[in-house]
Amino acid sequence: MRHISPLRYPGGKGGLSDFLSEVICLNSLEGCPYFEPYAGGAGAALRLLTDGIVSKIYLNDADFRIYAFWRSVLDEPERFINSIQKVDISIDQWRKQREVLSNCNSNSMFDVGFATFFINRCSRAGIISTSGPIGGYGQKGTWKINARYSVDGLVVRVKVLQRLKESISISNLDAIEFLKKNLPAGPSRKNAFVYLDPPYYGQGNKLYMNFYDDSGHRGMAQYLQRQKTLPWIMTYDDETFIKEIYSFCEQHEFALQYSAQKVRKGTELLIHPNRIRIPAWSENIKFIDAA
Ligand SMILES: C[S@@+](CC[C@H](N)C(=O)[O-])C[C@H]1O[C@@H](n2cnc3c(N)ncnc32)[C@H](O)[C@@H]1O
Repeated sequence: MRHISPLRYPGGKGGLSDFLSEVICLNSLEGCPYFEPYAGGAGAALRLLTDGIVSKIYLNDADFRIYAFWRSVLDEPERFINSIQKVDISIDQWRKQREVLSNCNSNSMFDVGFATFFINRCSRAGIISTSGPIGGYGQKGTWKINARYSVDGLVVRVKVLQRLKESISISNLDAIEFLKKNLPAGPSRKNAFVYLDPPYYGQGNKLYMNFYDDSGHRGMAQYLQRQKTLPWIMTYDDETFIKEIYSFCEQHEFALQYSAQKVRKGTELLIHPNRIRIPAWSENIKFIDAA
């Protein structure tokens, strides 16, 4: 099964898993604990875990709704599966679930978690906060609201998570707090691996509830600059400001290739400290020009 995450995530990096796997192996880190402070749909992390490349994944996202999704699916998988199977997929249901997300504080963790999943699967581009239902409110489009809601396939994905539960940790902190709290201290820090995929510099405010202003982006750069042994790698949108704040690192421009024909428009940046070795080429990443 190629996709393991039940979420469709804007800017999702599941397609980067083969590349990350090569990076982990090239740097002799197989079997290491893996940390993802901006996890979102966690497509790459889950692939690395099921392939046995990493031993445990520590996921974090500042968005409470995303956290509630992971918490509920991991803590109550049977109930989650039951809800996937029983819920009717309609515009009325879409409005009801959207309402739950507008009042997170007055709903249970499970209800917020399921609403996040439902809205993610049934809204355009998987955007939770601002996009409408697939096919529009009048359902006149070619694609209808259930176009991305294959019950059987989604149930299988939840069952995979149920099996991996003991190897997945999830938290709801600011990224730097998460790293400070969870990374191993002392010499064993060099045996961990961190993949960072921060909210986009350009579009972050449109895609995610939590995003950074310039000082937020800079804060993470400063934190990483202080790390002298930690193996980490990062992807970002290709912006001059980001290139400047990470000028202490190696940077490459790349385009994610989702299939043989389809290359995503525009380029992204791959950033890593000099001590990390990366393969020049891999199946899922197409380097355009090294910056
Ligand atoms: C580019 S997306 C990550 C996508 C993810 N790599 C995937 O494959 O699905 C960035 C994520 O960072 C989260 N985020 C934004 N600000 C954050 C912060 N200060 N700390 C932790 N997470 C944050 C957003 O909620 C969003 O889910």
